[in-house]
Amino acid sequence: MENLEERLISPEAAAEDFDSEFTLRPRTLEEYIGQEKIKGNLKVYLEAARRRGEPLDHLLLYGPPGLGKTTLACIVAHEMGVQIRTTSGPAIEKPGDLAALLTNLQEGDVLFIDEIHRLSRQVEEVLYPALEDYALDIMIGKGPSAQSIRINLPRFTLIGATTRAGQLTSPLRDRFGVLLKLELYSPLELAQIIRRSANLLRVPCDEEGAAELAACSRGTPRVANRLLKRVRDFAEVMGDGVITRETATEALRRMDIDPLGLDELDRSLLRAIIELYGGGPVGLDTLAAALGEESVTLEDVCEPYLMQMGLLARTPRGRCVTDAAYRHLGMQPPQRSGPMQDGSRQQSFADLEEN
Ligand code: ADE
Repeated sequence: MENLEERLISPEAAAEDFDSEFTLRPRTLEEYIGQEKIKGNLKVYLEAARRRGEPLDHLLLYGPPGLGKTTLACIVAHEMGVQIRTTSGPAIEKPGDLAALLTNLQEGDVLFIDEIHRLSRQVEEVLYPALEDYALDIMIGKGPSAQSIRINLPRFTLIGATTRAGQLTSPLRDRFGVLLKLELYSPLELAQIIRRSANLLRVPCDEEGAAELAACSRGTPRVANRLLKRVRDFAEVMGDGVITRETATEALRRMDIDPLGLDELDRSLLRAIIELYGGGPVGLDTLAAALGEESVTLEDVCEPYLMQMGLLARTPRGRCVTDAAYRHLGMQPPQRSGPMQDGSRQQSFADLEEN
């Protein structure tokens, strides 16, 4: 099975995304396309905090990878006119690592912790008083003579990002004043993002070419921008450099991405459920073992989109494919006596992360 890093439509950030994400990343809410509800609310919170001369309340951003959580955190810092310090849950190994980060913040700064669900319990304990009282409690000495001293911190905003809000401990979740859930983008929004990126990269891309790429970007701007760069290669080497419907379709076909935006891993997942488990239900770990993939990859990367497309359903007994999945793979759906599996039993991402 191919490696996740090599998967062209994986929404996980790959090394080559970093330069382009820096240049393509919108810097203001005005430039940011999509997530209208989040933007509307954030504008109010930012304006209110600015008027009061206070830092923004701590903010949790959650949703599938590649939707722009880091981008939004940078925008918040930019709009508040403060600095952002970026780290991630697994990078903060010891309470001392977090203490060093916190004591280096300036008044009003944003501390961004990606994958915040991966913080250790000990580190979380240090974070609680920092979030609530802008203070660090440090133990000096050991045994009966041990003493706790309190160090005041500058007022700051924590922005946490996670793909798995359900895995956050409740004391941590409760300390965020604002929880924002990012949704997959519509094809129209993705087409706008692709045209904006094409402009910045100076790649000619017409409306139909952008629409074609948008339809195959699985609701994710990171995928859209990555496909744009690959299709540009095909357009430049094999055509006249312009991304049109024809060049986009041909490039996507060569990259084994089908018209719904599924790649080989998505199709193998659906095929395995059909061919090995009679269409399901099958447990996630069993499926992951059969495919030689990690369960989290299937759960975070493949499933949200397959469910959104109505090809996969999560039931209490495991994963099932829908009739639409059989038809998409050119197979005949089985005759069923029970309720039709047309995706009506499909659960949303919110349900998914509660499990
Ligand atoms: N690039 C990546 N995500 C974007 C977004 N939401 N709006 C504009 N450009 C983007």
